[in-house]
Amino acid sequence: MSLPRSVLLIITGSVASYKALELIRLLRAQGVTVTTILSRGGAKFITPLAVSSLTGTKTYDDLFSLTDEVEMGHIELSRVADLVLVAPASADILAKMSAGIADDLATTALLATNKPVIVAPAMNHKMWSHPATERNISQLKADGSRVIQPTEGSMACGEFGVGRMAEPADILQFLSQQSRTGNTPLSGKRAIVTSGPTAEPIDPVRYLGNRSSGKQGHAIAEALAMAGAEVTLISGAVTLPDPQGVTTQHVTDAEAMLTAVNQALPADIFVGAAAVADWRMEKPALQKLKKQKAASRLTLELVPTVDILATISNSKKRPALVIGFAAETDKLLPNARAKRKAKNCDWLLANAVTGGAVFGADTNQITLLSAEGEEAWEQMDKHAVAHRLVEKISGHFAQKLPTRLVKGTRA
Ligand code: CTP
Repeated sequence: MSLPRSVLLIITGSVASYKALELIRLLRAQGVTVTTILSRGGAKFITPLAVSSLTGTKTYDDLFSLTDEVEMGHIELSRVADLVLVAPASADILAKMSAGIADDLATTALLATNKPVIVAPAMNHKMWSHPATERNISQLKADGSRVIQPTEGSMACGEFGVGRMAEPADILQFLSQQSRTGNTPLSGKRAIVTSGPTAEPIDPVRYLGNRSSGKQGHAIAEALAMAGAEVTLISGAVTLPDPQGVTTQHVTDAEAMLTAVNQALPADIFVGAAAVADWRMEKPALQKLKKQKAASRLTLELVPTVDILATISNSKKRPALVIGFAAETDKLLPNARAKRKAKNCDWLLANAVTGGAVFGADTNQITLLSAEGEEAWEQMDKHAVAHRLVEKISGHFAQKLPTRLVKGTRA
C-alpha cells in the first residue's frame, strides 16, 4: 500500500470521533507519521491523551497556547505533513472551511495549508442532505479539497441514512490511491461484480429470497474502483447505496442478473459475490395465490436457476480472472474445493455461514482457494476483505502469472 509519509489529522466533533483512533492506529501500522489537531468539539468525544497515546506525539488543541506557538506555530503546523485529513469532518467545520473562517487552530491550519486537503464527513443524514451542506461540499470540491463520501447505516441518534463516516480501512485505501497520483494498479482493467440476493417470483407479491446484504460484493466493487478498475456492479435488491465511482445496475432475479453480466462483458475480472437463488418457479403465478384455493398446504414446484458463475467461466468471453464465493454450512473446505473445480473458476473465497453468521454481518473469515494452494485469512471487516482481495488481484495482474498461494500461510 503506497501512503503519504506524514498526515496532519484534524479530528472534529462527531460520534465518529472514536473512529479516528482506529484510523491513527492503521496509519501508524503502515509507518505513517501522524500529527493531530483535536478541535474543541472533537475533545468532547475523545481525549488528547487517547490520541497522543496512539500518535506517540503531542496533540494540538489550542490556537492561543503560547507554548504551542513557540514549539510549532500554527502556520508551520499546517505544512508539517504531506497532506491534511479532516476525519471526522463535522457539518460545522465543512461550513467554516467553505466560508474561509479561521476562528480556532483547526480552521486556521486549514486556511493556511499549502498541502492537499481531504475531508471525511460524518453527520446525521438530514444534515448531510441539507442544501446548505450540499453547497458547502460543492464549494470545497471547487476549492480543490477531496471528499470521502459518507456511507449509509444506522446513526447514533437512532435514525437511518447516509452520513456515517467512511470506515478507517476505506479512508486508508483512499489515501493510498491519492498518493499514487493516478498510477492505480488496476487502471485499464474492466471488472464485473455481482452482489446481494436474487429474488425469484412466486406470484406478483411473493418471492424466494435469501439473507444476503450485499455488503461484501459492494465493498469489493468499491475497492476495485479505488484501485483504478472500470467497474460494473450488478446488484440484487439491497438497502446499501450504490458505491462511488462504480456503474451499478439493479436486477431482481438470477436470469436478469446473468443477462446484465453478459451485457457488461468483455471484462478482465469477474467476481461472483451475489447469493443467487438456486431454484425458481418455472411459471410464477400471474395472479396472487389465494389461501382458500391452496387449502391448508401449498406445494411449489421449483426448477434450478441458471448458474451465473459457471456460465461466465465457461463462456467464450471468459474474463482472464474469474472469482467465486462459497457459502457453506458444513465441510467448508472439501465443499469449496469441489465447487471451485465444478464452476471452473480461478479463485474461490470460502466462508462458513453456519447459524446465519456472515449474511448481513460486518465481518468475514475467508479461505482463498486457487489451483496453486490455499490461504486462510484472519476474521476481518468486509471492507478489509475487499481490499485484501484487490491487492491479490493487483498482484496477479502485475506479475501476469497466477499469484502463488502457499498452503496454510497467512498473507
Ligand atoms: N452462483 C451463481 N449462480 C447460481 C448460484 C451460485 O453465480 N445460480 C455463484 C455465487 O455467486 C458464488 C458461487 O456461485 O460465487 C457459489 O455459490 P453458493 O451459494 O456457495 O453455491 P451454489 O452453487 O448455490 O451451491 P450449493 O447451494 O449447493 O452450495
